[in-house]
Amino acid sequence: MTPSTKAGASRGGGAGVLRVRRSGPLRGTCRMPGDKSISHRALLFAALADGPVEIEGLGSGEDNVSTARALRALGISVVMDAGEARARVEGGQGFDALQAAAGPIDCGNSGTTIRLLAGLLAGRPFETVLEGDASLTRRPMTRLADPLRRMGASLDGRVDPARPLDLFPPLRLAGGDLRGLRAALPVASAQIKSAVCLAGLQARGRTMITEPGLSRDHTERMLRFLGAPIAAEPDRGLVTIDPDGWSGRLRAAPVRVPGDLSSAAFILVAALVVPGSDVTVEGVGLNPTRAGVLDALRAMGGTLDVTVTGDVAGEPVGRLRARAGGQPLRGVRIDGTLALRAIDEIPALAVAAAAAEGPTTFADLGELRIKESDRIAALCRELGRAGAAVNELPSGMVVMGRQAASAALRGGSVTPDHDHRIAMAGAVMGLIAEAGEETLLPAADIATSFPAFAETLRSLGATID
Ligand code: S3P
Repeated sequence: MTPSTKAGASRGGGAGVLRVRRSGPLRGTCRMPGDKSISHRALLFAALADGPVEIEGLGSGEDNVSTARALRALGISVVMDAGEARARVEGGQGFDALQAAAGPIDCGNSGTTIRLLAGLLAGRPFETVLEGDASLTRRPMTRLADPLRRMGASLDGRVDPARPLDLFPPLRLAGGDLRGLRAALPVASAQIKSAVCLAGLQARGRTMITEPGLSRDHTERMLRFLGAPIAAEPDRGLVTIDPDGWSGRLRAAPVRVPGDLSSAAFILVAALVVPGSDVTVEGVGLNPTRAGVLDALRAMGGTLDVTVTGDVAGEPVGRLRARAGGQPLRGVRIDGTLALRAIDEIPALAVAAAAAEGPTTFADLGELRIKESDRIAALCRELGRAGAAVNELPSGMVVMGRQAASAALRGGSVTPDHDHRIAMAGAVMGLIAEAGEETLLPAADIATSFPAFAETLRSLGATID
């Protein structure tokens, strides 16, 4: 059994707190849990198929469990074998398989679940309430509500007097008779683009979506693989959905989910900053719209081998090998398209930056303030706590890098505020803290995306329990 399939066993060893200490070399080969973004799509799109769909390699994190639970509430049979990372999804009737839920649907911590579900339900003739945890309840939804309302759905949410121009969960959505839309999204967002695609598949007439940069294109790839009437022109930043004459049902093809590059990012950074390390990660998704972290780490001088080994359900997959070289990483500038392609990996890159020689500037990252937490503030806080010099900027930060050849970080308590990626960044910082310093963090937060994180690091030789 691979580390990624022993999900439940690793939740803080039952203690709820992970303890990390300075580590000797990390060595070995590991696999990642199924890609979280692709797992959401595999589950949701399987529900729209014309027969039962088998999914393999599904993500084991709580966010993906939220999507499965939501589908069940909507009348879809989802049988998951978490131990084997498999699921069988049975809708069988396209969008018509979705039935009104008996009560509010809990989307947990997952922005992708709530936003893609809203698109899915925008054309269904019933009302649904979508809610989530404290973190999700703070995330903005006007960017979602605008296009869906213009297509004919009715969507309301909570109003926060402190941010009166936006809308927040819980959301109340009444599906409508939808019409196609020319949607120019104000921000590059795969969640919003995907929601509009799903609404567009249920609309009369064509939907055309443009965004200011190219966000991850997993939806376009998987919908095309499953026979949906979708065309993507990445060079023009355009996605077109033309459902006229389409059966309204996706193909019931088996789907295999690649390993999660966002999870791998923490393992790669650990391998690049812990002296003497040599780690290989097998079966990782290498979609170029997501792979900015690899370019950034290479620009920092990281020794990183990338071998593409194949393609699953329209997604490139491969092997990654990271080795700590004799020289430290060096500071770089991460902005523009690179920042967009590495948006979820900035917490891992910030740790690499703290271990690098010279400053690293992170810019064009305003969106990071509205992820599972305000990640700019959280990273500045955690790096500062560990003794790294960092300057917070409105849409980014400058991490000064190691102050002396021997400089190590300090231990202490990480406060991730229910943000899995801040928790994992804190853990990797702990691996390069001063000898004798202990870093403590709540294990439960990591289960959002990578329940076997600690177990995987331990299998490579890290001192974490
Ligand atoms: C995701 C898209 C990204 C990413 C998020 C997952 C997705 O957000 O940050 O963690 O699965 O579609 P955007 O919607 O801002 O692109």
